[in-house]
Amino acid sequence: MNLPPLVRSSRNLGRLLRAGRGSIGFVPTMGALHAGHLSLVRRARRENARVVVSVFVNPTQFGQREDFAKYPRDLAADRRLLAPLGPSILFAPGVGEVYPRGFDTTVRVGGSLGRVLEAAWRPGHFEGVATVVARLFALVAPRRAYFGLKDYQQFLVIRRMCLDLGLPVELVPCPTVRETDGLAMSSRNRRLDARRRFLATALVRALLASAALAGQGERSAPRLKAAGMRVLRAAPGLKVQYFEVADPETLLPLRRVRGRAMALTACTLGRVRLIDNISLMVPGHA
Ligand code: PAJ
Repeated sequence: MNLPPLVRSSRNLGRLLRAGRGSIGFVPTMGALHAGHLSLVRRARRENARVVVSVFVNPTQFGQREDFAKYPRDLAADRRLLAPLGPSILFAPGVGEVYPRGFDTTVRVGGSLGRVLEAAWRPGHFEGVATVVARLFALVAPRRAYFGLKDYQQFLVIRRMCLDLGLPVELVPCPTVRETDGLAMSSRNRRLDARRRFLATALVRALLASAALAGQGERSAPRLKAAGMRVLRAAPGLKVQYFEVADPETLLPLRRVRGRAMALTACTLGRVRLIDNISLMVPGHA
């Protein structure tokens, strides 16, 4: 099994990409790869002649009190995990490559997506994400880029940016990969001790409780929220930042669900912050 070539500089990346042919599928990540990331890489492999996986822990998307310093980094392990998936290029630039001296542009995320849920709890986060993704798109020039629906709001933010700026990249949303007990895979899960790891399943159980009620025909968003909140409150030590039933495009809170909606939640367990979401479908609508 061949390890993917590890490219550190944008100049070498450009050289390597210009030497080859065929569509480029791009999977941007912050490393500490797990089965969720790998599902995106597999999909990119199936749909493109070439695949670039970036590993860059982007400082500008972390708040001052967030876990940038503690974010897990293990490039050698990431590289080994990519090897069995077929040929790819591992692009792991330094901060100076992504933000060269003099870099002074930030993508501002407007509208409801830039204001609610994650944006409200993590001011500046999506500006950091949108700016680094735009920058990485410029370096990699992919035909398609793969994003996980685990970070649903992030996907919507990037989709909006591509539309607004006319970026010629096809975005491919990919389903959330879960542990056998339902917990959404995340590099943050490895920071949970055994007790908190068990309590963390409350997020998916809360979302499923809400989805089950919607499946029975409940349209009242407050009742759908209450069903989820009951599950979250039963988990000792778990702090709820939000549990919202929202419009799937604007993420604005709903009063009543007509057809499709999203339930989204963010909670903390100790110092570990977890997010998850699920699509709600009330029967009787297309
Ligand atoms: P990161 O958290 O490393 O995630 C990289 C990609 O993997 C994202 O598109 C994310 O949604 C997806 N992903 C994470 N966990 C997943 C899971 N359990 N199932 C499916 N997909 C999953 O998201 C980021 O990095 C950064 O914000 C980034 C876009 C790279 C910009 O810095």
